[in-house]
Amino acid sequence: MGTRRVLVTGCSSGIGLAIAVRLAKDELRRFKVVATMRDVEKRGALEIAAGETLSRTLEIRQLDACCESSIRECVNSLPERRVDVLVNNAGMGMIGPLECQSVKDMQDLFNTNFFGLVRLVKEVLPDMKRSQSGHIVVMSSVMGVQGLLFNDVYAASKFAVEGFCESLAVQAMKFNIKMSLVEPGPVVTEFEKKVYEEVQNMDLSCTDEETARIFREIYLPYSRKVFSSLGQTPEEVAEQTLQLIVAKNPPFRHQTNRLYTPLTAMKHADPTGRLPIDAFYKMVFQHDRVFNASLGVMRMLQKRMGKSKA
Ligand SMILES: NC(=O)c1ccc[n+]([C@@H]2O[C@H](COP(=O)([O-])OP(=O)(O)OC[C@H]3O[C@@H](n4cnc5c(N)ncnc54)[C@H](OP(=O)(O)O)[C@@H]3O)[C@@H](O)[C@H]2O)c1
Repeated sequence: MGTRRVLVTGCSSGIGLAIAVRLAKDELRRFKVVATMRDVEKRGALEIAAGETLSRTLEIRQLDACCESSIRECVNSLPERRVDVLVNNAGMGMIGPLECQSVKDMQDLFNTNFFGLVRLVKEVLPDMKRSQSGHIVVMSSVMGVQGLLFNDVYAASKFAVEGFCESLAVQAMKFNIKMSLVEPGPVVTEFEKKVYEEVQNMDLSCTDEETARIFREIYLPYSRKVFSSLGQTPEEVAEQTLQLIVAKNPPFRHQTNRLYTPLTAMKHADPTGRLPIDAFYKMVFQHDRVFNASLGVMRMLQKRMGKSKA
């Protein structure tokens, strides 16, 4: 297989930046990376990380996932409009009690996380169908499989992503196009910082005292602990994304953090849906000691897995 052109969205920071750089630095030089971002003024971090690959195996272009004309312009600017691999990564987060979030903000989130994907796929799919080749890689989340307290709207947007891809994958297969969902658990990026910053300014008086207390005193401290204990680096996710892109038969779903597999497995183990809901309820409201202890065990397992890989 010759050099593949990979278009990555949301490369100003985090996972998108790490994927673009990892692919551009591929030792076997298998990729030409079109690293896109909605605001090219933010290219500094990517340029530094890309180093010598800049303008060689990596080029930076403007693309706003919420703007059809910007997507079209970007794809039109590529020789023969060819995109061999699309990495749809651009996304945003949202946490907090539902009553404190505006429907407008929820729509903006869906506009990026879900409709952004739809716009990108609509643009590249016809060409991929014509060439009977291509790979659509989508940054989903474990929250695309299992919902989580106070992540109602974010999880819903990733569920939408998963339903869309699951439905499309069969048609894509008919045209020899591969589809893969990457499902990270927590990853330490700007994402986490941005959602916590928003929470600082959130007016919790929009909800009842009990909900505000649960969010502030239980959810937020736990969530921070989870990120600091179990969070992966964007580079780990990028490495696994590269392996998925080069695989002969890439999986449709790939969880990047094996510690999260039991969490999503509960859902498949009980078709009534009670098991994960009861388990989360007990974990959050009845067994915070158990939660802390299991976090400790998971942290230890993660260290061991890291060592055995090294
Ligand atoms: N971090 C996690 O814990 C985690 C876990 C699971 C899944 N994910 C998923 O991973 C993806 C990347 O997130 P991240 O953690 O790397 O966060 P991040 O550092 O905040 O990066 C998000 C990227 O998306 C871009 N973006 C947002 N709206 C856009 C739009 N309309 N058009 C183009 N780009 C846009 C951002 O650009 P600006 O700089 O211009 O805002 C930024 O480059 C997201 O889809 C997220 O849902 C993250």
